[in-house]
Amino acid sequence: MGQRTTEPPISWLMHAALSRPKLISLAAGFTDNASLPVAEARTALNQVLRSPKTGQPALQYGITAGDTTLRQLTAEHLRKLDLGGTPCRRPKNQGRRHAVPPEIYSPERLLIASGSQQLLYMTTEALCDEDDIVLVEDPTYFVYLSILQSRGLRARAVRLERDGLDLAHLEKVLTSLKRRGELPRVKMLYLVSYFQNPTGVTTSFEKKRGILRLLKKFERAAGHPIYLLEDAAYRELCFCPEMKGRDALPRVQAGQQIGPVIAREKSALMVRGAADRVIYAGTFTKPFATGARVGYGVLPEPVFTAVKHIKGNHDFGTANLLQQLFVRALASGIYGRHVARLEKRYAHKARVMKLAIKKHFPRVVEWWEPEGGLYFWARLPRGLQSGVKSKVFSAALKNDVLYVPGEICYADDATRRKPNHEMRISFGNASEKDIREGIKRLGKVLGRFL
Ligand SMILES: Cc1ncc(COP(=O)(O)O)c(C=O)c1O
Repeated sequence: MGQRTTEPPISWLMHAALSRPKLISLAAGFTDNASLPVAEARTALNQVLRSPKTGQPALQYGITAGDTTLRQLTAEHLRKLDLGGTPCRRPKNQGRRHAVPPEIYSPERLLIASGSQQLLYMTTEALCDEDDIVLVEDPTYFVYLSILQSRGLRARAVRLERDGLDLAHLEKVLTSLKRRGELPRVKMLYLVSYFQNPTGVTTSFEKKRGILRLLKKFERAAGHPIYLLEDAAYRELCFCPEMKGRDALPRVQAGQQIGPVIAREKSALMVRGAADRVIYAGTFTKPFATGARVGYGVLPEPVFTAVKHIKGNHDFGTANLLQQLFVRALASGIYGRHVARLEKRYAHKARVMKLAIKKHFPRVVEWWEPEGGLYFWARLPRGLQSGVKSKVFSAALKNDVLYVPGEICYADDATRRKPNHEMRISFGNASEKDIREGIKRLGKVLGRFL
């Protein structure tokens, strides 16, 4: 495995950013520095460390599945996100009857992880043997593709539309795998369901239902369950304009028309009768502090037990001090208030980037405006490449601006040609000034080629 594993793109992207002091990185998936909750975290940690009685357990090893109170609070948090009907705000209708059995949000099914990244890794490790197949969106989160590469797994790419996975294409892919006798190798579908990394696309609930229906349909031929791994890392970084009473802004410029973007979607856990096939990965890092690496998963049996055992081998429990930080932050309302503040912050930064793109990008460049998450997705005319080895990428580097080449977000899937004319541009970490300047530099580079 060590020999097979190549250097993940994230390593050299970070290296490039750090080794050139003048470089403006619009590549990093880092969150906004200025709004990191330093005072809030200090308050919460002071509460944890206020006395030996509260402090000592926090400075001791914990249990593999995670702190019991955090599991309860997290289960409740997730239940509110789903039943409140909006990923953005605390629900008003908490008492409403719901269609899903309450045990879906039971702390018993919830596992605390060292970032949702660990959960993605462990789940893949638990379900897949070498040479197995994972279905992924085309494009998808490139770090997940590195996991597949490293573990000797194959990816089959399913087309992505503006409201999520293309169901007709998913059926086609599954049918073709069945015809070739490869269905028994298919173990799961990985879906970044909210404000996707890299495109910003949110998968509609209807489509989640459709995905689960199709996976179920092909299970008999597969001979085993095919799981949906729902990665909801950006779910709480939501700044849907319509929720603020503003007119929805046009989301595609100079390109094809697209349907409405749906951002209030419930998780796949809510699809009736399908909870035993859904693995949900959530995180507290993006909405609070990426340095406090705590994520979580809701897993059905037997996956829950398998992943818990694997976690026992990885680290036998997520850092207890960080778990206690989130216990305090969630219970005191610090977390909720911070998420509400972030909404405004990212809405503002996204707007700064949008205005800069409008001003500086050539009109033939199509771009998607996000309603949450950290990324804009831009598409150059097909003839112009944006990949790692392209002239555009080296010209951008020479001009001290870095983006993520869309190319690296596409799985190695020989059934289609890998697109090489897109870019992921992040407004997460750069300051407003750097966003303006970075986009100006990028616009100048693009202008030279277009
Ligand atoms: C789509 C996606 N999933 C998961 C993660 C991992 O997040 P964390 O491990 O901080 O919870 C990231 C981080 O960038 C991401 O972009």
